[in-house]
Amino acid sequence: MQLQVFILSMPMLCSALPSLYPAPAQESVGSSYWLDQGQREIRRVEHETIRSLLKSRAKHVVLFIGDGMGVSTVTAARILKGQLENSSGDEAQLSFERFQHTALAKTYNTDYQTADSAGTATAFLTGVKTRSGLLGVNGNAIRGNCSSLTDETRLTSFLRMAADEGRAVGIVSTTRLTHATPAAAYSHSVDRGWESDSSSTSDDRSRCPDIARQMLLNAADYKVILGGGRQNFLPEELKGKRKDGANLIREWQAKQGSLNCSRRAYIETRNQLLDLEPDKVDCVLGLLSSSHMEYHAENMMKQNLSERQPSLAEMTTKALELLTVYGKDTGLVLLVEAGRIDHGHHGNQANRALHETVALSDAVEAAVQLLKQKKLLDETLMIVTADHSHVFTMGHYGLRGQPITQLKYKRNATTGRLQLYKAGDDLPLTVLNYADGRGASKSRHDRWSINATAEDTTKADYQFPAMMLKSGESHGGEDVPVFARGPGSHLVQGVREQTHVAHVIMYSAHLGPYASSQRESFQPTVAPNIKSAIFVNAAYIFKLVSGFVGFV
Ligand SMILES: *[C@@H]1O[C@H](CO)[C@@H](O)[C@H](O)[C@H]1NC(C)=O
Ligand SMILES: *[C@@H]1O[C@H](CO)[C@@H](O)[C@H](O)[C@H]1NC(C)=O
Ligand SMILES: *[C@@H]1O[C@H](CO)[C@@H](O)[C@H](O)[C@H]1NC(C)=O
Ligand SMILES: *[C@@H]1O[C@H](CO)[C@@H](O)[C@H](O)[C@H]1NC(C)=O
Ligand SMILES: *[C@@H]1O[C@H](CO)[C@@H](O)[C@H](O)[C@H]1NC(C)=O
Ligand SMILES: *[C@@H]1O[C@H](CO)[C@@H](O)[C@H](O)[C@H]1NC(C)=O
Repeated sequence: MQLQVFILSMPMLCSALPSLYPAPAQESVGSSYWLDQGQREIRRVEHETIRSLLKSRAKHVVLFIGDGMGVSTVTAARILKGQLENSSGDEAQLSFERFQHTALAKTYNTDYQTADSAGTATAFLTGVKTRSGLLGVNGNAIRGNCSSLTDETRLTSFLRMAADEGRAVGIVSTTRLTHATPAAAYSHSVDRGWESDSSSTSDDRSRCPDIARQMLLNAADYKVILGGGRQNFLPEELKGKRKDGANLIREWQAKQGSLNCSRRAYIETRNQLLDLEPDKVDCVLGLLSSSHMEYHAENMMKQNLSERQPSLAEMTTKALELLTVYGKDTGLVLLVEAGRIDHGHHGNQANRALHETVALSDAVEAAVQLLKQKKLLDETLMIVTADHSHVFTMGHYGLRGQPITQLKYKRNATTGRLQLYKAGDDLPLTVLNYADGRGASKSRHDRWSINATAEDTTKADYQFPAMMLKSGESHGGEDVPVFARGPGSHLVQGVREQTHVAHVIMYSAHLGPYASSQRESFQPTVAPNIKSAIFVNAAYIFKLVSGFVGFV
């Protein structure tokens, strides 16, 4: 991988005089700012809660996954976003932090306390938890054992269910499209590693085709598929990884049949993506990078625009423009993955991980704006969540406005000036740290910290300090946040199994076990005492609703 050393446009570098980002001026009025802010929030939350309860049928669904986006990542990325706009950052909001409803999701796999991305993607796309490493098959399948892929173990993603009903379905990811999260949207594989025929050890290629091949078999009617991973679709002679000589891109272009995809468009560049005219094509496959797409921060540093890959926001916007052509009436279902937050963390490269998270926030915002402009927002359920967390922390009592990716500062009690904070061993600390990974000091003896005094910690590839030396940093086992807005989003609450995400989507969009035809047999239980409580509270609800009507 090509590592580009670059310096973020922060007002201060390690060598310059330390300074803090300022907190918003309105906070200076003391209590009244917090009291007004608190009351505004109470009013807004009450109105939004009623609004979401009044409407629970979701015609459209957009699910965003921040791969590896645990709570500490969300907090640190929010601060980074604010600091990129020159404010202290804590008061900033990622776009999806404005969503009304949140829950925590338990991410464990059926055989691992700390999850991998294949098992978790299967959980939130099919509604069934499974083992680590398995895609689109349940926990009775055995990793690497092709015979265990049977009709009994095979699972269906809600994207496939939606496509079967003639709805417009799409996938966007910054990883290879054969990588865990996008792959679980269309494939059934007893090993997530079987991305192309050359990486598959399957002993039965007709029962267990490689994942790239399965995209043609199972997702040829998806309206839009954008991401990286071209190498797994091309034979070796065309710079691909396939040993069977197949050119799956050509096969995809030639696919016929009653798939409503007679005008197929294949693209490889950002310009081709931006030039696509939504009503002139039926189905789009974009393989925009040979392997994973580039990290957002480094991609954006490219001055020559024709060398840039599309951003997640650009891909999301185009995907929605394409999907709304068909899906406006039938409904659309889109999965968007910011897949490289995870890769940044695995390398202890917090700058990369956090910029990827800000890029996800931008993509969600772009989707909200586009759907609003097309007047589809009110009928769209949007969920933003993560597959799992990372062993990434933010702490060390940073002062308000502490540049989040720099060494920690303190205020000198005598002079009032900022200076580097030094720990007991006379070495500085970073605010961001990892429990394990390559950032651990190799020559560690009696001390845990490393000497970062002369390091530029804002470089994209700077490896933040880690406690245990390990070639790749680990996933975190704690719960991840789920953010939701739109019809059905009130069901996103509490501490739930990760499968709840799929069930909320299927229930609200009337898919699979909650399809309209089976709706009668699925009635939420309303206990008599709840009914009377609703009656008693009718006057109150009426007041709120009339207040709400006045509010809109
Ligand atoms: C933040 O400050 C820097 C340096 O003063 C400036 O170049 C940049 O334009 C500012 N950014 C915003 C969003 O105000
Ligand atoms: C593979 O799976 C099949 C079907 O579940 C099972 O009968 C067989 O024993 C498994 N083989 C191994 C080596 O685990
Ligand atoms: C193709 O589109 C038509 C019209 O939108 C729809 O009725 C039909 O179900 C679609 N066919 C398939 C296979 O999706
Ligand atoms: C920009 O990149 C394109 C594609 O690599 C190249 O053809 C073009 O010459 C570049 N333009 C400049 C001004 O370097
Ligand atoms: C405070 O600053 C003064 C002057 O630079 C320095 O001599 C002193 O050591 C500093 N105090 C601490 C606690 O670092
Ligand atoms: C840490 O690094 C700085 C700058 O390279 C150096 O001046 C200092 O002596 C080092 N401290 C220790 C304890 O090694």
